[in-house]
Amino acid sequence: MKLIRAKDYNDMSRKAANVVSATVILRPNCVLGLATGSTPVGMYKQLIAWYEKGDLDFKAVKSINLDEYVGLDAYNDQGYRYFMNENLFNHVNIDKSNTSVPNGMAADVEQECRRYDKHIADLGGVDLQVLGIGNNGHIGFNEPDEAFEQQTHLVDLAQKTIDANSRFFASIDDVPKQAITMGIKSIMQAKAIILLASGEGKADIMETALFGPITPKVPASILQLHPNLTVVADEAALQVVAQKHPELF
Ligand code: F6R
Repeated sequence: MKLIRAKDYNDMSRKAANVVSATVILRPNCVLGLATGSTPVGMYKQLIAWYEKGDLDFKAVKSINLDEYVGLDAYNDQGYRYFMNENLFNHVNIDKSNTSVPNGMAADVEQECRRYDKHIADLGGVDLQVLGIGNNGHIGFNEPDEAFEQQTHLVDLAQKTIDANSRFFASIDDVPKQAITMGIKSIMQAKAIILLASGEGKADIMETALFGPITPKVPASILQLHPNLTVVADEAALQVVAQKHPELF
């Protein structure tokens, strides 16, 4: 694991954008695994700024998103397809037909999950997977469980996740209770992973996930086994790691 300590959210966003940029420059037709949520928004802004400057070209880039809420369509402003369009795709020259988000409106969710896994395989897998982390250790929407779910699957969101994500909705009752998420196997098969975290709210889970036992009760703990994991996190998110593992800093 490479640990990159950023000063604050802006610094984290810039450093993370540098890692993504390097991938796009070195492999213009790369497959990027993308995440939503608050954490990567600044990174996407930075990528847009570099695209506008002429430093980045997304023409041949393909992307595959981690997850989508069940019941929200592409036009719902709380949905993740909408989020990606607003925060990245509408502002760079990526071909939208090269971008994928699970279809939260699929009549047959199981079939949609199998289609998504086949699509990832057809793309040849993910070159760089961007991840955030839930405060319960989820990655994508792989929630704490008794076993690691490998494939893309339907998930019942944990109450902690519903509570955390209610900040984006008018009321907590509007937060969908289910989502489709890429499974742990697809995430772990990415050639490289970059895990982002910002803020003291993530400090405990970052230490538990990166240095605690590897267990499906903390889904992000599996990342300890990935051969090419880069963690980009700010000082606040790394404060417990810094207290317990001072030798790393
Ligand atoms: C989003 C996703 C989630 C988030 C996580 C952290 O696509 O897969 O795992 O990365 O919930 O969310 P934020 O960044 O809002 O703290």
